[in-house]
Amino acid sequence: MDINEPRLGDQFSETQEGPVALDHLGEWQKTVNCDTLRPADVGREVILMGWVQRRRDHGGLIFVDLRDREGITQVVFDPQIAELCHERAGALRSEYVLAVRGNVRLRPEGMTNAKLPTGEVEVAAVELRILNSSKTPPFQVEDEVEASENIRLKYRYIDLRRPKLFKNLVARHKVAQLTRSYLNELGFLEVETPVLTRSTPEGARDYLVPSRVNSGKFFALPQSPQLFKQILMVAGFERYYQIVKCFRDEDLRADRQPEFTQIDMEMSFISEEDIYSLIEGWIEKVFLELKGSSPLAPFARMTYAESMDLYGTDRPDTRFGLLLTEVTDVVANSEFRVFRQAIERGGIVKALCVPGGKDLSRKELDDMIEFVKIFGAQGMAWIKIQPDGWQSPIAKFLAPEVQQALIERLSIDTGDLILFVADQKKIVNDALGNLRGRLGKQLGLIDPEALNLVWVTDFPLLEWDANEKRYTSVHHPFTSPVESDMELLDTEPEKVRSRAYDLVLNGIEIGGGSIRIHHQEVQRRVFQALGISGEEAREKFGFLLEALQYGAPPHGGIAFGLDRLVMLLCGCSSIRDVIAFPKTQKAICLMTNAPSEADVNQLLELCLKVEAERNA
Ligand code: AMO
Ligand code: AMP
Repeated sequence: MDINEPRLGDQFSETQEGPVALDHLGEWQKTVNCDTLRPADVGREVILMGWVQRRRDHGGLIFVDLRDREGITQVVFDPQIAELCHERAGALRSEYVLAVRGNVRLRPEGMTNAKLPTGEVEVAAVELRILNSSKTPPFQVEDEVEASENIRLKYRYIDLRRPKLFKNLVARHKVAQLTRSYLNELGFLEVETPVLTRSTPEGARDYLVPSRVNSGKFFALPQSPQLFKQILMVAGFERYYQIVKCFRDEDLRADRQPEFTQIDMEMSFISEEDIYSLIEGWIEKVFLELKGSSPLAPFARMTYAESMDLYGTDRPDTRFGLLLTEVTDVVANSEFRVFRQAIERGGIVKALCVPGGKDLSRKELDDMIEFVKIFGAQGMAWIKIQPDGWQSPIAKFLAPEVQQALIERLSIDTGDLILFVADQKKIVNDALGNLRGRLGKQLGLIDPEALNLVWVTDFPLLEWDANEKRYTSVHHPFTSPVESDMELLDTEPEKVRSRAYDLVLNGIEIGGGSIRIHHQEVQRRVFQALGISGEEAREKFGFLLEALQYGAPPHGGIAFGLDRLVMLLCGCSSIRDVIAFPKTQKAICLMTNAPSEADVNQLLELCLKVEAERNA
């Protein structure tokens, strides 16, 4: 027997429709991809391999749309050409895996498909090899799927056959490759850092890994390679990068995963400006590759203070206006008790002026009031500027001169809607900043094509944590203070500025970094300001403090969220759509069912005991 021949029927697959005879691949090789053939290829003999997207029986002919990762080609089974082949094609179902040998021919007039790049031709099958059958898939492999995300995540291998998801992962691959070549050319070295390590303080909870050989001790998975990359600078590497997994046990959102990928870099002997131009050059290349055009360097810059004032957040979405305006001074003496009391308690009042917003319904206003409450606001006052006067529950408390001052401060026009929140500054900014984002979407103020980048600079070094009753780092404890502000560290710590920067794209932080502390004494003082005792600092970061004493060069760096960057460039709304095997909002992998219970013997070896379910 010729071993090149598929041995028909010596393997069977039981399917819903009955047994199907399976073939071997034999010596066949795929000669073209399913996106390739054009009228110029007419007459060629080709071998295609892929999955059955669709099968249609048309009288004597059977048509199969054959799909591979690149595209779709129509295959036609004609009994006049190959009778046996046509007969077997009757058994084909969605997602069967085929190899087809046949000849390229033009589709008859009127039968072309302008939506497919291969839509003018088809392959007339001479020989068919059914390489595998498939159960009926839980959902169709098409860009627009009806299936719930949970079903898609459980059957991720089918979901990933969808062209859209595949393209996202190709885009991700391109960004990773381009990043490597950009940095390689600039003398950066890719260095791997440990995954089993100590706790790294980036502000989230750690994932812990018990050590069997050191019972009772735990590794932590890195929240970032922060300390290792700084140590590499002490080691004299000068330019480091890594495309690296980071692990953070935090509450998940659409742009957060428990494990995600950073493009992480660090450099010695540099300033903020060096980082900005390095990154702008890189972002330009990434945008050019994925979008065909790139934003012009230098990118916009905004100080943290400006961003908080105008946008209520340090992640300003500059694609639309609708800025926050402080009106504390204007309403301080008004009759409205809510405003006065908030101000007396050290709070502020800010307003949003929504042009043409007077037509929003009472229900929409009530929804907004409920929305701001999520962020701790007690309520939200509103005024509709109607042609015949101000319509508002609070207008009667605002004297004519207060009204006039508001008109000027907010540039109020007829038809506008004014929204106010009075409270402590943080709450006001959170509430109105988030409301602004929601209104931007709801009112269609955002150009879906826009990609707006802005550097946020001049962050404060520390912020007061009211719950923990101590200062915490706005970035991380290794960020350098602005030298001239150092004297304020003991007296007015909240006024000390840091040398940190974030890059924000469309209101999402895609990257952040800083110039680091490279003197041990400065690091000790910052730990002190953070309420980290000398002993605790030695216990947790002793190796860093030690290293800083052996000739640490001035250095700084930045890390980007690869998932977030690709998500934005691919126009997705969740990073799950750019990660091959993501986890759910509850940090579960639905395909593998991780995390799972551990075997009792494994626990014994680790000297661990799992308590009965904890009552929350
Ligand atoms: P930072 O904590 O700002 O900085 O992280 C850098 C970037 O990583 C992305 N990111 C995330 N992406 C997805 N899911 C998450 N849970 C998640 N958390 C963060 C963001 C963010 O901008 N060591 C410092 C960097 C430095 O100082 O050089 C750090 O990790 O896009
Ligand atoms: P009240 O006197 O509490 O009924 O509030 C009158 C109006 O002021 C209502 O429209 C409330 O939504 C609004 N309001 C209440 N608290 C605040 C606040 N902290 N900031 C702005 N408006 C508020």
